[in-house]
Amino acid sequence: MDKFVITGGNALRGEIPVNGSKNSALPALAAALLTAEPVTLHRIPHVRDIRTMQRLLVDVGARVDIEDGVVRLEASKIVSPEAPYELVKTMRASSLVLGPLVARAGRARVSLPGGCAIGARPINLHIFGLEQLGARIHQSHGYIEAVAPDGLRGATVHFDRITVTGTEDLMMAAVLAKGETVLRNAAREPEVVDLAELLSKMGAKIEGAGTSTIRIEGVEQLGGAEHTIIPDRIEAGTFMVAAAITGGDVTVTQCNPEHVGALVAKLQQAGAEVTQPTAGSVRVRASGKLRSVDMTTEEYPGFATDLQAQYMALMTQAEGIAIIVETIFENRFMHAQEMARMGANIRVDGKQAMVAGPRALSGAGVIASDLRASASLVLAALVAKGETVIDRVYHIDRGYEKIEQKLAAAGARIERVE
Ligand code: EPZ
Repeated sequence: MDKFVITGGNALRGEIPVNGSKNSALPALAAALLTAEPVTLHRIPHVRDIRTMQRLLVDVGARVDIEDGVVRLEASKIVSPEAPYELVKTMRASSLVLGPLVARAGRARVSLPGGCAIGARPINLHIFGLEQLGARIHQSHGYIEAVAPDGLRGATVHFDRITVTGTEDLMMAAVLAKGETVLRNAAREPEVVDLAELLSKMGAKIEGAGTSTIRIEGVEQLGGAEHTIIPDRIEAGTFMVAAAITGGDVTVTQCNPEHVGALVAKLQQAGAEVTQPTAGSVRVRASGKLRSVDMTTEEYPGFATDLQAQYMALMTQAEGIAIIVETIFENRFMHAQEMARMGANIRVDGKQAMVAGPRALSGAGVIASDLRASASLVLAALVAKGETVIDRVYHIDRGYEKIEQKLAAAGARIERVE
């Protein structure tokens, strides 16, 4: 298992480019199951979750060729409409094939995901939505089986809580359903909008993506398309925090500044200078003291839960007390204990964490518990005195492509060791 060895103390400087969005690429790959024609996707990040989705699609019967960030997919036939436990347990986003498989093949068998490091994360809303569209659902042996032999039919689905992949899954199911589907209380994340754009290029009729009501008029069939995935806003945000926490000056390039608005506001309130040199870049400069600023995670356009851990690392270096409230997942503070081992003063009480700073951090051996927690430990290590060894970096490899090389190019002392 790989580890990162990081020696803190260097301010980051220079440009750091971001990749295509992992959380946009995953549903886009699943969407290719909706047509027998080829789909070409550009800017697919080279991360482990994408390889897992590739394996899943190949098992289902698709041809998937990936080269230099370009994926060519062709699902001329669905051979086995199934997502096995072996894959679903390593990546919950595997449930994104549920909607497209029922819509295209009339049947899907998908393993239930089980427990997760950051919260319960059930898929009951995906299932509820498919039922509204006329699928018959049966659960046995840890699997959900959904059948709709005569196809799905449009319906109104009101999500009783906002779900990103649930919205995406239902959107993919509804594009081939007979008649109109209305998704209410839908997720408004940029990844949902990106998926709607891809589906529209394939011939789907979708209105309202990016708002909380999405209307989909089903069509008989979809065709091939070519599409470029949006930049990864969480990767961009991670590098923005890296600039601020190290008192550096970094321009994050190839990103969409609009997608990181909530983070920009917090960085500015904390005392960092944030500018937008070009339409596709954000520059973050920090010198002098940072101030503590409270933060509550929310669905988009609120502050992303996927940046909460990184923000907590930043607050360990800010003057005062910051209250961080996590509203999306029940158990997403695992990084707090690891940061405490590095000297941070953090008290967690249920959904709320209180961070008192600034505290001088010192390097220690720490364990990454999930993708974004790992990223936050890297950030804490960049300002810690001495050496930090982060174990289980396979978590970070799920969603960040070459993070150590990108940070090192901006002056960080970080090394991957086996
Ligand atoms: C997506 O997960 C992202 N994953 C997550 O990214 C992200 O943290 C999350 O959205 C929230 O923004 C992908 O896009 C592949 P949800 P998702 O359904 O869709 C509850 C990362 O680090 N819920 O929006 O699985 C759920 O338990 C990650 O890249 C139900 O109760 O999240 C949670 O509390 C991890 N029933 C809340 O809703 C359901 O059927 C929001 O979850 C579905 C969800």
